[in-house]
Parts: sequence; structure tokens; C-alpha cells
Amino acid sequence: MDSILVRSNGPLKGQIPIAGAKNACLTLMPATLLSEEPLTLTNAPRLSDIRTMTQLLQSLGSEVTSLQEGRVLAMSSHGPVNTHADYDIVRKMRASNLVLGPLLAREGIAEVSLPGGCAIGARPMDIHTDGLAQMGAEIELRDGYLHAKAAGGRLKGAVIDFPFASVGATENIMMAATLAKGTTVINNAAREPEIVDLATCLRAMGAQIEGDGTSSITVQGVERMHGATHPVVTDRIELGTYMLAPAICGGEVELLGGRINLLAAFCEKLDAAGIAVSETERGLTVARKNGDIRAVDVTTEPFPGFPTDLQAQIMALLCTAEGTSVLEEKIFENRFMHAPELIRMGARIEVHGGTATVTGVDKLRGAPVMATDLRASVSLILAGLAAEGETKVSRVYHLDRGYEHVVAKLRGVGANIERIKDA
Ligand code: EPZ
Repeated sequence: MDSILVRSNGPLKGQIPIAGAKNACLTLMPATLLSEEPLTLTNAPRLSDIRTMTQLLQSLGSEVTSLQEGRVLAMSSHGPVNTHADYDIVRKMRASNLVLGPLLAREGIAEVSLPGGCAIGARPMDIHTDGLAQMGAEIELRDGYLHAKAAGGRLKGAVIDFPFASVGATENIMMAATLAKGTTVINNAAREPEIVDLATCLRAMGAQIEGDGTSSITVQGVERMHGATHPVVTDRIELGTYMLAPAICGGEVELLGGRINLLAAFCEKLDAAGIAVSETERGLTVARKNGDIRAVDVTTEPFPGFPTDLQAQIMALLCTAEGTSVLEEKIFENRFMHAPELIRMGARIEVHGGTATVTGVDKLRGAPVMATDLRASVSLILAGLAAEGETKVSRVYHLDRGYEHVVAKLRGVGANIERIKDA
């Protein structure tokens, strides 16, 4: 297994290119199942999760070819489709559950392993299955699999009120509704940029969708979908993560491809903490305003609120801010596992349920720490960039799921960081 060694190296300077979004690509890829014609994604990120989705789609009978060093994914599902999504693949990555809607829409039948819980929470699929049931699907959980069947062989339109603005459920239902008979309305839908990116791609494939980006999405079902080529939207979580590097270390960095409208709530918090963010022709520049970092309170919410996927990373910044910050995690019930690791580096953090209170200290100290999930792993690397001494982050396989070339990108702006093989 690999680890990453980080030593502080003073202010950062230069540019970091931001890749296409993992969480957009993972929902765009299953859209290939909605048509017999080719779907090509450009600006695709090169991540282990994308390889897992590729493996899953290939197991369902889709052709998925990675071109231009993985930047382009050429997909086609023209042949017969296998409607069984196996546990052995699904257990590696929860987002595998995004094949349920497209399989049901195309074949009227699907057998998808339930992903089970993960480090950050129980993550049930009740909103997905309740929505599909309202569209006429009969769904039964048996032997760990969701066995789903569309009454009469085809889903039908429905008005669905979500109890919570779930990202995955919005994506699954939106894809399922493209080929359903009649009109589907999703109320209290998720509004994330990845949802808008998916709707844009589905429209390019012939779908009739309105309201994406708002909390009410309307889909008019069509008889068939055709092929398309679609560029994956910029990864706002990778963007936010690297924006915190110059905030933590000092200096100035330009994030190529970044845009403030992808992360407005996050940028507001950085501004309040003493960080200047400004748009450039090619992206965003980030630098401290006058050297000090001020404490800020943060509450995670669905978009356009503060993203839960940046909570761990901003905690790393607030560990050395002046004053006390209160972070409330409202999306996942167990997403503070980075806190004990930051405490090992000398941070002062108290966690009570979904609230973490961070009292700023002058400086963190390097230590051996362990990654527990994707975003926790990168928050430990960020903390190590400004800590005294050496930080060794182990279990970095978590990182490979969502960050491509993290060592090269941070080294490119002057960080002292390397990846090593554990003995
Ligand atoms: C997506 O997960 C992202 N993953 C997550 O990113 C992200 O944290 C999350 O949205 C919230 O923004 C992908 O896009 C692949 P949800 P998803 O359905 O779709 C509960 C990362 O680090 N819920 O909006 O699973 C659920 O338990 C990952 O890249 C139900 O109760 O998120 C959670 O508490 C981590 N029943 C909350 O809603 C349901 O049927 C939000 O889940 C569905 C969800």
C-alpha cells in the first residue's frame, strides 16, 4: 500500500489544472444504457472510480473504450444488455446504484445489488426506490439485491415529492423518466451542478427536460434516445480542495478551469476567513488577504449551500485560524473521522454528534495519520502542507478514487510532497 509524505515548504506559487468532475462522470456514464447509439464523454477524469464504473458497464454488455489517456470515454450499448449489476462490483463503489434507473427505463427490469453502508453513513436508497415505485416499478429486496420490474414493461410518468434533495435519487429518476410513458415531475430535486450537467447531456441525447438546477425538474418521456458527445463539467470539489492549499500555506495559486459560480457558498466562507478569490481568464486565483486566517462557522447543505464534500478540507484550514469555528455536518451522520487524525497533529477539535468545534492553534505538527475516506484523506494532506515536520498519510487508495495526480499537481506549485510504497 502507498502512503504520502508531506513537509511544509512555505508559500505556494503557480497554476493547478482542474479535471472533469468525478461525481458528474459517474452519473453520465450510465446514460449510455438509455440509447443504442454511441455516447462519448470528453474531459473525463482519470480515477479508480471511473475504472470501476467502466467495469460495471462492461459487465452489463456496454462497450466502454478509454481514449486519449483516459480523457475521452467512448461508450455504446447497442447490443443486448445484462440487467444484473453484481455485488462484487457494486460493493467497491456506491455510485454503481446509478445504473438502476437506466436499466429499468431501457429493459423494464433490473437486478442491482444494494451497495450497503459506507464510512460516512448508512446511505439508504429509499428515495430512489420510492420514486421508481411511483413510476410503476415493483421493487423487492432479495438476497441483497434490488429486484425491479416495470409494470406492463415500461415505466410511466409520475409527480414525485422527495423528502430530501438527494443527488443520487434525482439522477436515477431523471434518467429513468427520459424513456417513461408520459411526464415526470421531481419536486424538491437536488440542484447540484452535476445534475445540470447530466440533464444537458440527456437533452443532447434527445431527452425533454426542464428545470434542472431548480428544485422542480420536469421530464417528458420520449420513445427513444440517440447518441451524443458531451464534455464533463469541471470538478468543483477538486477545485475547492486546491483553493485551500494557498489559503493554508500562503502564496498565490491559479486554478485553471475554476469558476466561482460552481462554489459560491464556499467562496463566501473563504472571503469571511480572510482569503481573496478572484476570477481570471483561465480560472480563479486564490491568496490570503493580509496573512491572518479568521475562524468561520460552516453548515453543510445541499447545493447551493456549503458542500459536505469540502467540510473535511476547510476543517484543515480552520485548525490554525484565529478563534473558534463551529462546523455542522447536516448531510451525513458520520463525517468527522478526519478530526481524530487532525488532533494527532495537534489540532484542538471537539466533536459532539454532527457538530465539531475547532479552536485555532498557532501551528500543527507533522505525524503519521490514516485516511478513512476520500475527502478525509485530502484534508490530512492539506494540513500536512503547513505543519511543522513530516506528515505521513497512509491508506491513500481512498485518494485515488477522487483525485488524479495529487502529488504532481501540488509539487507543481512548490509543495514538498511525495508518494512512497509502504514496506
Ligand atoms: C452524492 O452522493 C455524491 N456522490 C457524494 O460525494 C456527496 O457527498 C453527496 O451526493 C451529497 O452532495 C456522487 O455523486 C457519486 P445523496 P449521494 O443521495 O447521491 C440520504 C464524494 O466524496 N439519502 O444526496 O449518495 C443519505 O443517506 C461523495 O465524492 C437517504 O436517506 O448523496 C445522505 O445522508 C461522498 N435516502 C443524504 O441523503 C436515499 O434514498 C444525501 O445523500 C438517498 C439519500
